[in-house]
Amino acid sequence: MITYDHEVPCDGAKIEVLLDAAFGDGRFLKPSYHLRRDTKPLDQLSFVARSGPTVVGTVRFTPVHIKDRLFGKTVRALFLGPLAVSPALQSEGIGGNLMRLALETAKAAGHNNILLVGDYSYYQRFGFKPVSSRKIRMPGQQGENRLLALSLSTYWALPQTGEIIAGWPQERTPHAVDRSAA
Ligand SMILES: CC(C)(COP(=O)(O)OP(=O)(O)OC[C@H]1O[C@@H](n2cnc3c(N)ncnc32)[C@H](O)[C@@H]1OP(=O)(O)O)[C@@H](O)C(=O)NCCC(=O)NCCS
Repeated sequence: MITYDHEVPCDGAKIEVLLDAAFGDGRFLKPSYHLRRDTKPLDQLSFVARSGPTVVGTVRFTPVHIKDRLFGKTVRALFLGPLAVSPALQSEGIGGNLMRLALETAKAAGHNNILLVGDYSYYQRFGFKPVSSRKIRMPGQQGENRLLALSLSTYWALPQTGEIIAGWPQERTPHAVDRSAA
């Protein structure tokens, strides 16, 4: 039986084994890996599929933002991936279940903009749409990419043009009021 669960710290090594099997070594050369390199996945949005003690599926999100090239405005987003299922168990619905669980959890947590690099023919079933690389670009990207985006609300909040940057920008917090002298 396959069960679905939040990723926990001791899943890390098992997930690496799964990613090696699903993507091979070449994964480290992908633009998505470059973007995620120094950013931790969000614990509350990282899920695994388990078959007994074995991790057979994984999906993660990392925080990113897009800086609008025209207006300088910054828009937060989630970068989805990697999504992978053990080769022996692919096409049994595990990837789809992980995607729906992750997207529902992201929506319930109030997130709106989801980005990923992947095959439109797979991700269109979840509502993703292609984004022109002339508008929003992966860092260091040359030429066309496979960037896809999904809005979890009824409005489209992504800027018309900009570059994806790892992490969320620091929120500006009001200065603490020093009441000690009062
Ligand atoms: C992509 C992946 C996560 C899907 O997981 P899964 O459990 O096999 O997916 P599901 O069972 O929910 O869906 C299977 C369907 O997706 C299709 N599919 C799988 N990968 C696809 C791809 N890259 N492009 C288009 N369709 C794809 C299958 O042909 C199957 O189609 P069917 O329903 O018409 O038979 C899995 O195949 C995988 O780990 N692949 C290797 C790593 C990878 O490519 N990750 C995604 C980056 S694009």
